[in-house]
Parts: sequence; C-alpha cells; structure tokens
Amino acid sequence: MKLITVRGEKKLYGRVDISGMKNAALPIIFSTVLTRDKCIIENVPNVSDISLSFDILRLLGANVTYYHTTGVAVIDTEPLSKNYATYDIVSKMRGSTYLIGALLARFGSSHVGWPGGCDFGSRPIDQHIKGFEMLGAKVSFSEGYIDAVAKNGLVGGNVYFDIPSVGATVNIMIAASLAKGETVIDNAAREPHIVDLANFLNMCGADITGAGTSTIKIKGVESLHGCTYTIVPDMIEAGTYMVAAAAVGGEVSVNNVIPKHMETVTAKLLEAGVDVNVDDSEITVRSEGRFRGISLRTLPYPGFPTDMQPQFGALMSIAEGVSNITEGIFDSRFRYLEEIAKMGGVSEVVKNKAIITGQKKLVGAKVHSTDLRAGAALLIAAMAAEGETEITGVELIERGYFDIVGKLRSLGADIELIEK
Ligand code: EPU
Repeated sequence: MKLITVRGEKKLYGRVDISGMKNAALPIIFSTVLTRDKCIIENVPNVSDISLSFDILRLLGANVTYYHTTGVAVIDTEPLSKNYATYDIVSKMRGSTYLIGALLARFGSSHVGWPGGCDFGSRPIDQHIKGFEMLGAKVSFSEGYIDAVAKNGLVGGNVYFDIPSVGATVNIMIAASLAKGETVIDNAAREPHIVDLANFLNMCGADITGAGTSTIKIKGVESLHGCTYTIVPDMIEAGTYMVAAAAVGGEVSVNNVIPKHMETVTAKLLEAGVDVNVDDSEITVRSEGRFRGISLRTLPYPGFPTDMQPQFGALMSIAEGVSNITEGIFDSRFRYLEEIAKMGGVSEVVKNKAIITGQKKLVGAKVHSTDLRAGAALLIAAMAAEGETEITGVELIERGYFDIVGKLRSLGADIELIEK
C-alpha cells in the first residue's frame, strides 16, 4: 500500500514543468488503432492510466514502446489483430470506451468490457451508443460487454448529442474518420483535448473540421497513415499547482502551459483575490495564503472544468467567508469534502451544490483519496494545514499526475511517498 504524508504550512516557491494532458493522450493513443502505420507520440505523461492504455493495446497485439525519460511513445498497430478487450482490464479506466469506436472502425465490429473510471455517480454511455447507431452500427449488451457491429462498414450520419459529452464526441470522431461519407456532430464537446485529437487525426490524413466548436464535420477517408504528434500540456495539472500555490502561499510559476486553456482557473483565482500573472507559456501565482470565498459552477468547456472543482473546494475550505459550488457535470463529486471535514473543514452538500464555510485553519488528519482529483484536493488541503496529514488512495492520484510528490517537494513542500 502507498500513502503520502504531508507536514503542512510550508510555502511553495519555484517553477514546475507541466506534463502532457492525460485526457488528450488517451484518445490519441487509442485512435492509433485506425492506422496500420507507426505513430510517434511526444509529451505523453508518465501516469498509470497511460501505462494501462499501452497494456490494453499490447493485449490487442500492438507493439508499444514508451520512453519514460523523454515521454515519447512509439506505437505500431500493424500487428493488432483482436477486436475485443476483456472486462478485467478495460473496467479499470474510463478512456477505454474509445476502443469501441476505434475497433469498430478498423474491424467492423468490437466486443469491449464495460468501462470503469473514477466513481462520481452514474456515468452512462448512451450518447456514445446513439452515435454509433447513427453511423449504422448495431449495438447490444451482454454480461458486462458492449458489442458493436457494422457488417458493411460505418456510414457517415448526423449525430446530435443531448449533452456535450467529451467521451462521446471523441468516440464518434474516431469511428467516423474511416466511415463512408460525412458525419456531422452537433452539440459536440469543445474541450482542448477534442481539438488535440482532431489535430492528431488530421495529421494522419483524416478530414475533420470544426473541432473546438459545437459542430464538428468529419469526412470519412479510406485509410490513415502514421505521424509524429506532440500532446498539449495538461490544463488540469497546471491548474492544480496554481491552486496549491494560492492555498499554501508563496510564488509558483507553472511552465509549459497554454494560457487560453487556463482562463477560467485564472479568472476564479483573481476573483478570490489571488495574484496571477499570465505570460506566453507560463503563469505565476503569488499568494500570502489569504483570499476570499467565491461562487463557482462547473460546466462543459469553455465553462469552469469539473476536474478543477475539488481543488477549488480545498481552497475555499480556508477562504474568508462562504463559498458556493454547483457541480454541473457529475452527480456526486463532493466526497472529498467529507475528508476535508476530518481536517476541520466545514461544508454542507445538498444534491449537486456545496456550501463551504471557510476556516482560519485546517489541521492534519488521516484522510482517503476517493478519486483522482479528490486526491489532488486533499494534497492541497494537507499542504495548507497545520501538522501532519496522511493520505491513502495514492494509486488514484497516480492515475493522472506524474510525480506529484517530487514536483511538490521541489517547490518546498514537506511531503513523502511511503510504500508499505
Ligand atoms: N453522459 C451521459 N451519457 C453519455 C456520456 C456522458 O449522460 O453517453 C454524462 C455524464 O454522466 C456526465 C456528463 O455527461 O454527467 C459529461 O460526461 P463526459 O462524457 O463529458 O465525461 P467523460 O468523457 O466520461 C471526461 C474525462 C473526465 C472529465 C469529464 C468532463 C477522460 C478520460 N475523462 O470524462 O476526466 O471529468 O470528461 O470533463 O477524458 C479526470 O481526469 O479526473 C476525469 C474524470
């Protein structure tokens, strides 16, 4: 078992390099299934969800080499021969849903276990299924598996999503890239990772326009070729260090970021009274550790990201005054507040709303990370708190943050990763 111990109240100073975005890398890694050529993917973050995606591709028959020190992955899907992925492995990760679109496009059928992922309420895939059906696939379910079949190949169609789902948009972009004719996705997700996927697929010869807007057009092509592509920086990792600096105090520059992707986080920190300076590819947060409570509502991009909500919840736990958070994406993403309550945090959750009454101080305690971003929130709370905090559930944090303990320690945090 792994645990992280933090002795709090050590201000953070210095510069931290931001890794490639996990949620951009996963769709790109799975969409290499569409080509039979080699793809070289750069700036791939060394996190456990990514290793798992490589393991899944290897199980399907692909050759994958990942160079940990440089973050370069060489993926050769030419030998990939299986159109199925078993439940035991895909259930460990949400991103494995992308295999359905990728295998369906390559083989005309797929048999994939029900995807897992962080647990914050129900996470249906009805929009993905609807999209596949609009492209001519027949989809059925049996004993924890999703079967999709398009006997005569996929055919472009019009797909309207009831909600702008990231996963469904990715899946239909992947599937439609090799379909016959044009697909139009309306009410598409607009996240930067959608744009990154479109850029990657276009570099491989796909014909995708409109990514980053609500309407994406995909003209199917006969085949895709390999390419070399660099993943965009992780806006959530960057935001996490920005909020950590704000909460704990000090001066931290997040380096290698795209400031446009950070606009909501920057705006909300400024609203809380934190000093934020934005440069070309670097953002600096200066804080005395004093700031006021704010209201925020998570929404699909360009709204405030749900993946930054827990980190802000930690910040608000020690802000002056009362803060209100409305979670607009997931049913149940406030469990971290019960953990922060063990450190003296005061909050009330009613359905998808949390009211947080800021406290002068949190005090170290034994807490458990219930999901990836909850873990990030607990680290922030622990670094701001008096005394020692012990965090379990570290494996969940490692799903999406490369060397978070090392990076925080290099900024001056008194933090240790212990393996028992
Ligand atoms: N939804 C449906 N039906 C669907 C798909 C989604 O009702 O068919 C609902 C979901 O239940 C949710 C909302 O739509 O209420 C948005 O879900 P979305 O599909 O956009 O999320 P996702 O693709 O499952 C990705 C990220 C999450 C991130 C969300 C929202 C990956 C691998 N996961 O999930 O990342 O929170 O988008 O931005 O990209 C994380 O990194 O910590 C993480 C959880």
